[in-house]
Amino acid sequence: MRYYIDELHKYVGETVELKGWVYNTRGSKKIKFLILRDGTGLCQCIFFNGDCEDEAFDKFPELTQETCVKVTGTVKAEPRSPGGYELSAKTFEVIATSQDYPITPKEHGVDFLMNHRHLWLRSKKQHAVMRVRSEIINAIRSFFDDRGFTCTDAPIFTPNACEGTSTLFSTKYFDDKAYLSQSGQLYMEATAAALGKVYCFGPTFRAEKSKTRRHLIEFWMVEPEVAFNDLYDNMELAEQFVEYIVQRTLKNKKHELEILERDISKLEPIKGSFPRLHYSEAAEMIKKENPDFVIGDDFGGTDETIISSQFDKPVFVHHFPTAIKAFYMKEEPEDKQFSLSCDLLATEGYGEIIGGGQREESLQVIESKIKEHDLNLDDFSWYRDLRRYGSFPHSGFGLGIERTVAWICGLNHVRETIPFPRLYGRLHP
Ligand code: 4AD
Ligand code: MG
Repeated sequence: MRYYIDELHKYVGETVELKGWVYNTRGSKKIKFLILRDGTGLCQCIFFNGDCEDEAFDKFPELTQETCVKVTGTVKAEPRSPGGYELSAKTFEVIATSQDYPITPKEHGVDFLMNHRHLWLRSKKQHAVMRVRSEIINAIRSFFDDRGFTCTDAPIFTPNACEGTSTLFSTKYFDDKAYLSQSGQLYMEATAAALGKVYCFGPTFRAEKSKTRRHLIEFWMVEPEVAFNDLYDNMELAEQFVEYIVQRTLKNKKHELEILERDISKLEPIKGSFPRLHYSEAAEMIKKENPDFVIGDDFGGTDETIISSQFDKPVFVHHFPTAIKAFYMKEEPEDKQFSLSCDLLATEGYGEIIGGGQREESLQVIESKIKEHDLNLDDFSWYRDLRRYGSFPHSGFGLGIERTVAWICGLNHVRETIPFPRLYGRLHP
C-alpha cells in the first residue's frame, strides 16, 4: 500500500507509512516537528517524547534537509497544519541521507538558483508553477480534442525555415543539413488539408541572442490550423481558447495560484470577446507614449505594454504591415501593405502570447513571396504542392506555453515556467 500526503483525508485514525524528503525540521526537548514533502504536498509529522519510539526521538538530528525518509504514524485532522492533516509519528527510517543541501531557506541569487535548477524544482513555489504548467498543457489538449481537432505533431528536424533564416539552429543530418523547427505551422497547413482541423504541440527552437524576460531558446508551442477559417474566425478561436485555459486553471489550480500570491482578480475577467485593434490604431496609441516608435515597425516589449495596460482583457492587434511579417501571411485584399495577421497581447504588460493569421493560398503569390524573402523555392517544393492541389483558405496561430504560464502565474520571467530552461547564455543543467 502506498500512501500520499494529498490523500491523507482517507486515512484519519489509521496508521500509515509516508515516504518523502525532509522539507524542514524544528523542535524542543519534548516535541519535534518534521515537515515532510512527497511531491503531492507537505505534511507535519510530530514526534512527542514518550509517545514515539525513543530511538526515533534520539536520532531526529539525522533528518537534515532533503534526506529521503520513511515515516510511520497515525493520521490526525488538523486544520492548522499545511495540508489540513498531520501525522502523530511513531518512528522513521532514513532511506538516503542528504548533507549540506545547497538551497537553504535563506535568499539565493537567481544565478545560483538557475545553476541548481535540478534541485530548485523541489521548492514550494516551483512545485506550484510546474503544476500550473501541467494544468495548462492538459487544458490545451482538451480544448482542441473536445472540438474535433486531430493532433498531428510536426517534425523537429526540418529542411526549411518557417520564421525567417536569422534564428535557425542548423545541424548535420547525415550527409544533409537540417534545422531545428522554429514552428510546426507549414506542416499543419499540410495536415489541415488532410484532416480539416488540426494542431501540433511540441518544442520549437529559436537562435535568438536576446536576454529578455520573454525569450527562451527552446520553448513549447501549440499550433492549431483550420481549413476555411479566415482571420476573424482565427481570432474567435484564439479568444475562446485563451478564455478556456485561464478559467480552467483558475478553477483547478486555486491552491497553486495562492502559493504564487497571484492576484486572481486580474485573471477572472479574461472571458468573452477581447478588444481588437488594427495595427494603425495600436501604432497611434504607442506613438503617444513612446515618440521614438516608428509607425510601420514591429512592437517592442515596452510598446506592447503601452497597449495592454489600457485594457483588462487580452488585446488582439491585427493587420500588421506586410513588410514585417513572414512570407506565408496573406495580404489584405483591400490594402496590400497590411497583412491578415494577428497577435494577442496578454494583460498586465505580459505582451504577445499568440501570433498567427490567415495564410496566402495563391501559388503565384506564395512563390513570389518566397523569393522576396530570399528563401529557396526548391526547399518549399512540398509546401507549394498545397497550393497546387486544391488550395484552400486557412488560418492558424501559435501560442507560446511558457509566456502563457508566466502570465497566469504572475511571474516576471519565463525562466521559471519550464522545468529546464534553455536561455541565451545558459545550457546547464
Ligand atoms: O509569433 P510566432 O513567431 O509565430 C509563429 O511561429 C507562427 N508560425 C505560429 C503559427 O501561426 N502557427 O510565435 C508564436 C508564439 C509567440 O506569440 C510567443 O508566445 C511564442 O510563440 N514565442 C516564444 N516564447 C518564448 N521564447 C521565444 N523566443 C518565443 N518566440 C515565440
Ligand atoms: Mg510573433
